[in-house]
Amino acid sequence: MPAGLKAAPGTAGSMSDQSTFDTDVWTLTRFVTETGRQAKGATGELTQLLNAMMTAIKAISSAVRKAGLAHLQGMAGCVNVTGDDVKKLDVLSNDLVVNMLKASYSTCCMVSEEDKGLIVTPKDKRGKYVVCFDPLDGSSNIDCLASIGTIFAIYKRVTEGEPTEEDALQPGSNMVCAGYALYGSATLVALSTGAGLHFFMLDPAVGEFILTERNVTIKPRGKIYSLNEGYAKYFHPSVNHYIDHKKNPEDGGAPYGARYVGSMVSDVHRTIAYGGIFMYPANQKSPEGKLRLLYECNPIAFLVEQAGGVATTGTQRVLDVRPRALHQRVPFVVGSPDDVNEYLAFVNKYQ
Ligand code: AMP
Ligand code: AHG
Ligand code: MN
Ligand code: MN
Repeated sequence: MPAGLKAAPGTAGSMSDQSTFDTDVWTLTRFVTETGRQAKGATGELTQLLNAMMTAIKAISSAVRKAGLAHLQGMAGCVNVTGDDVKKLDVLSNDLVVNMLKASYSTCCMVSEEDKGLIVTPKDKRGKYVVCFDPLDGSSNIDCLASIGTIFAIYKRVTEGEPTEEDALQPGSNMVCAGYALYGSATLVALSTGAGLHFFMLDPAVGEFILTERNVTIKPRGKIYSLNEGYAKYFHPSVNHYIDHKKNPEDGGAPYGARYVGSMVSDVHRTIAYGGIFMYPANQKSPEGKLRLLYECNPIAFLVEQAGGVATTGTQRVLDVRPRALHQRVPFVVGSPDDVNEYLAFVNKYQ
């Protein structure tokens, strides 16, 4: 089969009868150009931002694929704001996203997992958008070649004049757009501008993301639970009770399968694709959980809701949380609606 652009099932494309080379394919660039033209009053600024983000993601994907060869594995020699060891690929990914977004003339400020403070775009390059991102999620998996990702959330600024933290501390419900890239066995982008969730797969021969699934929906219930069960000693009894119910269903039903990559983008992507539940609840050692609200939980919550799923902290909808700090953590439970609601029923039993 020739390398190159191929039609996505269920998407309009023209196949010549001689080959499988689609000559009218839906690339991500085409998709956002089209939705941008259809958005009433849109100026092209968001489309420009998304194009810049995709350039950064393609470059990160390329760096991830040749990390060992290019000596990008290993430590960069410092610790980031939340105390994690910073890897060379983290630094490179962060620089790529910051530089591409600044150069897109569409952002006024950004929040990155790798930077303590607000990143302010130079005055002459400013636009109206605020981007919160995790340039490389799951970085403890870099050296063992398991899947890693990039996550981003986009908002419109709410202040005038110099950008401030207030622009970034917006509830997730204000989000205009979110996405993640998964550097897995293939590179995939999941994207939503609030009208459904769509998947795009990178065709490395052409260097474009190709629409492979429109309006993705999550199953009402899955058969997989996903969390770091090693922390059972520190979990609230409601969490352990729920997990035990998944392993030993009281109704005599089949137990759930367990999966945990330890790279949230991978675990979440599987949850969207197959159904089930992913959780990083609070525990005695991490009373707020581990995952960060602005650039991990909120964008994933937005995307999962767009697919018909549910995202909760255990006490409220993630997208309704009013952020207090740029690197705030929240407990995070996300997935198929029946699974997450069942978890919430266990939480309520212990109230
Ligand atoms: P803009 O003038 O490009 O900043 O766009 C204004 C608003 O229109 C955005 O905040 C979105 O709500 C919507 N919009 C713009 N471009 C797109 C796009 N490519 N896809 C979907 N919605 C868009
Ligand atoms: P990051 O690599 O950006 O710091 O995030 C890692 C996160 C997330 O991807 C994953 O779900 C979680 O850390 C795993 O944490 P545990 O090792 O505590 O399970
Ligand atoms: Mn992360
Ligand atoms: Mn990270």
